[in-house]
Amino acid sequence: MESTLYKAWLQYSEVKDPALRAVYTKILGNVVTGIRTTDVVMNAAIHELKEAASSMLGIQPDVIQDCTDASYIRIGTATEAIDWKELEGDQDSSSDVKQDIENLTTEGFILRHIVSNQGSYMLLIGGSETGVLYGVFHLLRLIASGVQLTGQYIIEQPINQIRMINQWDNADGSIERGYAGSSIFYHNGKITEHLVRVKDYARMLASVGINSISINNVNVHEIETGFITPELLPDVARVAGVFREYGIRLFLSVNFAAPIEVGGLTTADPLDEGVRQWWRGTADVVYQSIPDFGGFLVKADSEHRPGPFTYDRDHADGANVLAEALEPHGGIVIWRCFVYDCMQDWRDRSTDRARAAYDHFKPLDGKFRDNVMLQIKNGPMDFQVREPVSPLFGAMKKTNQMLEFQITQEYTGQQRHVCYLVPQWKKVLDFDTHANDQGAKVKRVVDGSVFDMKYSGIAAVSNIGDDENWTGHTLAQVNLYGYGRLIWNPELSAENIAEEWAKLTFGNDAQVVGIVCGILMKSWPIYESYTAPLSVGWMVTPHYHYGPDVDGYEYSRWGTYHFADRNGMGVDRTLATGTGYAAQYYPENAALYESLELCPDELLLFFHHVPYSHRLHSGKTVIQHIYDTHFEGAEEAKQLQKEWSELESKVDRDRFAQVAGRLEEQVEHAHHWRNVINTYFYRKSGVEDEQGRTIY
Ligand code: GCU
Repeated sequence: MESTLYKAWLQYSEVKDPALRAVYTKILGNVVTGIRTTDVVMNAAIHELKEAASSMLGIQPDVIQDCTDASYIRIGTATEAIDWKELEGDQDSSSDVKQDIENLTTEGFILRHIVSNQGSYMLLIGGSETGVLYGVFHLLRLIASGVQLTGQYIIEQPINQIRMINQWDNADGSIERGYAGSSIFYHNGKITEHLVRVKDYARMLASVGINSISINNVNVHEIETGFITPELLPDVARVAGVFREYGIRLFLSVNFAAPIEVGGLTTADPLDEGVRQWWRGTADVVYQSIPDFGGFLVKADSEHRPGPFTYDRDHADGANVLAEALEPHGGIVIWRCFVYDCMQDWRDRSTDRARAAYDHFKPLDGKFRDNVMLQIKNGPMDFQVREPVSPLFGAMKKTNQMLEFQITQEYTGQQRHVCYLVPQWKKVLDFDTHANDQGAKVKRVVDGSVFDMKYSGIAAVSNIGDDENWTGHTLAQVNLYGYGRLIWNPELSAENIAEEWAKLTFGNDAQVVGIVCGILMKSWPIYESYTAPLSVGWMVTPHYHYGPDVDGYEYSRWGTYHFADRNGMGVDRTLATGTGYAAQYYPENAALYESLELCPDELLLFFHHVPYSHRLHSGKTVIQHIYDTHFEGAEEAKQLQKEWSELESKVDRDRFAQVAGRLEEQVEHAHHWRNVINTYFYRKSGVEDEQGRTIY
């Protein structure tokens, strides 16, 4: 029996309400569908429906081709549905179902409940088999949260084209920035024999609409460099087969130096004819093994990874040689923009890591092949608790762009602290780049509509490992769930997503849902308040990135982040007197950030170096803000722990204890953060706390 920890949001708990149970039972009692013995996605959809019906309603639905009963669910694709007899009797004059069916995109679906003289039916029509699968998960979500089905007419189509997960897993079983155990993909240098867990992961991902996955770390080490060779491809193909059943295409991270390391060439120069031939041959071999292979994900010239700079070529040259090889097969290259100088001299104040992605890539706009996408981290730096939005979004009008989030909580508490990230991601998606006058929010740039891109979408670094609950902290499951739901439809609110997840995960008890959602919605601001103030970031233990170390990275080769001295702190990134980063934005945003008066408090120290006595819009001085937020944040963490404790009788023992344990650590650690940060700035500035609290 799988534990509640393992089942995450796919609990499929028994429906207890008699009235709802009766309705659901009628609908799921018979599953009417054409015979498709070969379509793996359709089979997965039907299997899911049957398993869930058995678990939630205690029934074993009959899967049949036609039904004369008065109620059933009929499922199929748009092509078949157009002739369904039930649609003839559809009395709803307010909508034209046939038109809606014709308008369905391949991954979309319609859920239509019809009550007629003959009976009542649920129709599930997918734009393709994958659409059906998404529709099944949607229906099960409604049932698990106790929603009335009568009269429902739901049309859903994903807003983003590529909805991707990046695994940072290594063949030795470790996971870069993984906080939930070891890899579920690899063990001892090999792809695991038994892919049961990978299959359950695929189900979880499909349930929230993920359609692409890269399965190895962007830092491609020795063994993984060989994944694209005939020796190792059969193993990769096994994994691709599992994901295929759930409508998910497999990608690989590749090593730019692969022509040398596994190809036996003496160069990886992208303009070398031998190198071009090698990549072409390699792509052919990959597609022989995996005909629906997605393509390559590449980290090049970044943090000591090889890349085109070695050969004095630019990143368009680098990406294009791979794109050319994949093009005949319909594959794409996802090229990361996380390119910066990690060997900088701290004495040189003109080098600004925040500027790097824009400086490297903006001049290349228009030079990439059609099947290249640039993957841009949400902020200009590296997944801090708060950063401004990367100015690269919207800056390139002739290049496919993809946004990269980080679900794994590298800088946001490493799944030991609770930190619900959907509110942070929404802020990014809702940011107006001002790339045009019609409203060029990031979400419209990355869904491809602002510049009419051929490929577009969103990727994120996964937060799962082989821990029983997948994510280390049970409440961190919400970030994986929320990521999928949000990128399916960026208009969903953070509150709604939290509520959906809480119901599916813990059941529909109002008190439980209320408390869980309350904890989640407060968690990001609380984490921010006792850690890095006013977007300064980086005050963490070098390399591990957990726990406070204010000067850990200061004046290092990675960059300098707060420049605190006895007078003040922050980084001057203005055009007038600083690094000029603020001018990388379109004028509306540039003017906002350039101005000390207009710059939002929450981003102040990212853009300006100010005295500790500088007054924020809130009316507080910077130093008093630091003291207050750190005292308050640590107290609020305690409050979260208290709220959770109220659920002891309502949440099963395993999950209650798991979360309680993590919250205990968070409370202690939040106090440690508070003391370290307050003490540091008190000693640096010599300014007393207005409230005279204990600072060491
Ligand atoms: C961060 C992270 C690295 C990772 C890198 C990347 O710097 O700490 O572990 O490799 O991001 O995104 O490539």
